[in-house]
Amino acid sequence: MCGIIGYIGKKQALPLLMDGLRHESYRGYDSSGVVVFDHDNVTLVKATGKLEKLEEKIQGMDIPGKIGLGHTRWATHGGVTEENAHPHADCKQNIFVIHNGIIENYQQIKDELQAKGHRFISETDTEVLSHLVEHFFTGNLEEAVGKALAQVRGAYGIAVIAKQDPDKIVVARLSAPIVISVNNDGGFIASDPGTILSHSNKMIFLDDGEIAIVTGEGCKITDLKNNAKDKVATEVEWTLQEAEKTGYAHFMLKEIMEHPASLENVLRGRLLMDEGGVKLGGLESIQDKLRDINRIQIIACGGSAYAAQVGEYMLEEYGGIPTEVEIGSEFRYRKPVFDGHTLSIFISQSGETADTLAALKEVKERKGLSLGIVNVVGSTLARQMDAGVYTHSGPEIAVASTKTFTAQVAALALVSLFLGRQRQLSGPAGRDVVGKLSELPAQVREILGRRNSIEEIARRYHQYPNFCVIGRKYNYGIALEGALKLKEVAYVHGEGMRGGELKHGSLALINNEFPTLAIVPTDSVYEKNISTIQQIRARGGKVIAIATEGNREIQKIADDVIYIPENLEMLTPVLATIPLHLFAYYVAVARGCEIDKPRNLAKSVTVE
Ligand code: AGP
Ligand code: GLU
Repeated sequence: MCGIIGYIGKKQALPLLMDGLRHESYRGYDSSGVVVFDHDNVTLVKATGKLEKLEEKIQGMDIPGKIGLGHTRWATHGGVTEENAHPHADCKQNIFVIHNGIIENYQQIKDELQAKGHRFISETDTEVLSHLVEHFFTGNLEEAVGKALAQVRGAYGIAVIAKQDPDKIVVARLSAPIVISVNNDGGFIASDPGTILSHSNKMIFLDDGEIAIVTGEGCKITDLKNNAKDKVATEVEWTLQEAEKTGYAHFMLKEIMEHPASLENVLRGRLLMDEGGVKLGGLESIQDKLRDINRIQIIACGGSAYAAQVGEYMLEEYGGIPTEVEIGSEFRYRKPVFDGHTLSIFISQSGETADTLAALKEVKERKGLSLGIVNVVGSTLARQMDAGVYTHSGPEIAVASTKTFTAQVAALALVSLFLGRQRQLSGPAGRDVVGKLSELPAQVREILGRRNSIEEIARRYHQYPNFCVIGRKYNYGIALEGALKLKEVAYVHGEGMRGGELKHGSLALINNEFPTLAIVPTDSVYEKNISTIQQIRARGGKVIAIATEGNREIQKIADDVIYIPENLEMLTPVLATIPLHLFAYYVAVARGCEIDKPRNLAKSVTVE
């Protein structure tokens, strides 16, 4: 969840480290630190709070050195204090470690090391790593790191340097990402490809159980037992501009404005107009296996699980296959029943979500067929799938997902069409969906063009502490997504519900202080939705309706109406998402929230 950056080479390390940390700060953190070596001189600086606090401390200090590590911490073990901030050192101030993740058996290791005389200064789990490496260190850092890691359980992306073996950075991973790139200036390591993209777009993605020894000239990869491994660098297609705010007040707004481009990217080259089908290169290798499946489970967390909710309806109606959504963090604790005819679809923007990865592990152990819908190319999830569909949304920096959410929904429509055309879906019916999918980017642009009116509505409602968000059928997942966005970025309570469920209890909450956002496109559940709105009105509840263009009737019963263009029922979720993302964003602006880095949250949740 935290950020890791490291450099070794010809240049001064500190500016490169600070640059990397600035880039990684979007991920959410509570403290930060750097360590730089200059021969025998070690400078270690840490600060709690924003990165500016670290910058203030560093200002005026002379910190030469061409090797160093930097870290932004998202505390899991131990409070937010300078002692607990990384890097963590051993007793002799020889070894320095930065760590992303959790060492689950740290207490036992700590007790053993303390009994041997090691002195700990922090409450973190991480500090056991520096002392454990110290315990095994006899002059060769990678050897000591390998031995230390053989003792620990949990999840880690780590980077380690040692004064007594100073010409290398040793990195390793288990369930938490580490990327490496080497150019003429030296070697760079990071937790996030975007952090080191400005140095080179050729990156090596470390796999679980691997250790890399990075020097100024190159990098060597081994397993924990020091057996060499061959790895090729992957070319990352993201551009630097995509990872910058380019004039927008917030990344979230920039990324909302990128919904159309992101949809174009996920659809590009995949729609077969004449055949009424789709080309998904990633699925070709498992085509025959896909013909054989009779059940689907979609596994994801948070917003990605809400996209999955939309997919459930799509895959059943168009793919003709019974489908269920499973939450990543629950999956392996509920003895799931599935067999060789079940397809498991994993959805993840980051491809690094620990709960989703844990579910994948379970599926793989039981030899299940897996398909990934992932944004980050080369991420752990993407690499472990039997087959996959990349969403190609480009980097998403704001913690709250926006453009990647609609891309996930569009990707699910593509997969539904693919499976449907293998089964019961006719060519003409397929052509209809393909045609309507291709209209989405322009329709989304049209909604974004009217964002000022949504801002005006959001301003009028921004002081309410509670909102109900309702939708049915295809738009149930969108109601959940709209509510989550309000919670994440505006810190207001949003209750996402199936419209039909309101009368079974939650209606008791509704009065003129508890407004409802109602997703009511003109579709097969329109009349039912109208009845629900009437029930809300009868209790004095205010209603902001998201309705299909041309529907004048809705103006008579809703307090405010936001229109979306007409499209197939299965694709209205993409359109209905846009006003909800904008609404949450503008409510957050009006409430003076932080928006891109909401309190308590992190962009990729790499702990279970
Ligand atoms: C969405 O706005 C949230 N930031 C969060 O719920 C997110 O969708 C969830 O953590 C899953 O992340 P992933 O898609 O990277 O797996
Ligand atoms: N578990 C470690 C700590 O609490 C690392 C947390 C992180 O990933 O930032 O310090």
